[in-house]
Amino acid sequence: MKIIKEINQDILDSDICLIPTMGALHEGHLSLIEEGKKLGLLTMVSIFVNEKQFNEEDDFNSYPRPIEDDIKILQDLNIDYLFIPENNYIYPANDFEIIDSGVLGTQYEGSSRPAHFDGVLTVVNRLFQLIKPKFAIFGKKDAQQLFLIKEMVSKKRFEIEIIECKTMRESSGLALSSRNLLLTDNGKEKATLLYTILKEVKKDFSNSRELDAFEIFSSRYLDIDIDYLEILDLETFSKPIEKTDEYIILVAAIIEGVRLIDNIEFKLEEV
Ligand code: PAJ
Repeated sequence: MKIIKEINQDILDSDICLIPTMGALHEGHLSLIEEGKKLGLLTMVSIFVNEKQFNEEDDFNSYPRPIEDDIKILQDLNIDYLFIPENNYIYPANDFEIIDSGVLGTQYEGSSRPAHFDGVLTVVNRLFQLIKPKFAIFGKKDAQQLFLIKEMVSKKRFEIEIIECKTMRESSGLALSSRNLLLTDNGKEKATLLYTILKEVKKDFSNSRELDAFEIFSSRYLDIDIDYLEILDLETFSKPIEKTDEYIILVAAIIEGVRLIDNIEFKLEEV
């Protein structure tokens, strides 16, 4: 595995499968990497804690950065490149494009984290422009992010195929996340409620078609501070309509001061 800080011509001459991350790698990230390796191209993982997508300085400062552990994990996985850029390589003074995530970027996760998705799209656009990968892999765990990235790829006509991977969970149902490292055991137990709630909302919705789950569930689960709970049309990421075929339920909650998100997708006939 080559550890690089900048992109060279060899890389631009190769077919690359890129897996962007912010490090603190867990099995969720590893599932993306395994998927990428199946393509038989050169596999590149990037680790860059992108300040532009953090709307709170404390959150950026406390984000876990176990870089030595990450390097060991990636060495064992036998990937081709680990890209760990410096901030000024990704963001040269006044010489990078800022991407506007539009209205959807201000809703749901974006409503509590202003400019978060602009920051995500800005860095992903930059990575795509620098690396020119053939494929890029993202997790469904961050469903709104994935939706916005796919939208950007199609708007900007990037010739990059986006591969989506399912959410990896602990046996308790808790979605794996780098932020779980910031929770106590008690907090982790509470965090399993996110998935419990998603499953209950799915069941309730299929019986009642009642879209307003937030009111019901935020009073039913007083142990956690739910920020939003939304049932959306998976295809449009807006409110479901008569002909909605696939749904997605999004949830965000704050536990021990840590912001956690999760989601499930479903079709009514599957319930
Ligand atoms: P990060 O949170 O490190 O996640 C990197 C990738 O791993 C994302 O595509 C995310 O959806 C995926 N992922 C995270 N948890 C997962 C899980 N439990 N199961 C499956 N996949 C999971 O997302 C980011 O970084 C950043 O916003 C980034 C795209 C790198 C831009 O800075």
